[in-house]
Amino acid sequence: MTEGSPAVATHTIHKNVLENARPYEPEKGTVRRVTAGAIKRRKGRTIFPIVTAYDAPFGQFAEKAGIDVILVGDSVGNVVLGYDETTPVTIEDMVHHASAVVRGTSRAHIMVDMPFGSYQVSDEDATRNAIRLVKDGGACSVKMEGGTFVADRIRAIYSAGIPVVGHIGVMPQTASLGPGYKMRKNRERLVADAKAIEAAGAYAIVLEVIDHEVARELTEMLTIPTIGIGSGPHCDSQVLVLHDVLGMYPDSPSFAKRYTSIGTDATAALQSFAEDVKEKRFP
Ligand code: KIV
Repeated sequence: MTEGSPAVATHTIHKNVLENARPYEPEKGTVRRVTAGAIKRRKGRTIFPIVTAYDAPFGQFAEKAGIDVILVGDSVGNVVLGYDETTPVTIEDMVHHASAVVRGTSRAHIMVDMPFGSYQVSDEDATRNAIRLVKDGGACSVKMEGGTFVADRIRAIYSAGIPVVGHIGVMPQTASLGPGYKMRKNRERLVADAKAIEAAGAYAIVLEVIDHEVARELTEMLTIPTIGIGSGPHCDSQVLVLHDVLGMYPDSPSFAKRYTSIGTDATAALQSFAEDVKEKRFP
């Protein structure tokens, strides 16, 4: 038997399972929030959607739409707080927005991003900040960007009893400090990072803008669900930023399908309101 044989066997098993995956349905029959364990068990069984939300009403809309995993992403920096990037977002920002989404929902799993600076310094600091997101923000799990170099942090937070999600490929928190936003294609590096994250105890992993074939390979290789964004159709889950899905802004990434144009509709509605006031058409 060659060294690669066991991995090939796993590929085949998972690939067949994914092809026969049953249609996604939100978890039923429980009043508790969907747990990290339940999400992990979806691996190879069902392909599920995740959307970001940053406040109570949109958390509620997502849940009503049957989306039972919601990410309070640090993309809040770009799409809500008016920054050009996620780097300035603080732990206080994340606690504030996470707790609002928690208040607007009842059953969805609320996954919360650890912002830049909240986990880089030490295992202890990272664990303290993750605990803060759980205690003050109501997070059901936390997510952090990084490959092999954050494996120890994941292990530390996981040891504190907090479920963790990894995030590799494009990593927006540090993209503008050098690596940029181009598609990541370095297979060896991505495989090493993904394996290190899985071994450290993460229950899922985000693959952001990585080569679609590498994303397929990782999905077949890992025992935890892959959550794709701009990484092709072969992942166990797909996540999109709420404002891209709803078309709130004129521009969105080419991989993000728009399902409506809320930005244009909102502007038109506000124009009508302004016109009514000017023309004294008011009840
Ligand atoms: O912050 C965010 O919204 C994210 C997604 C893009 C995965 O991390």
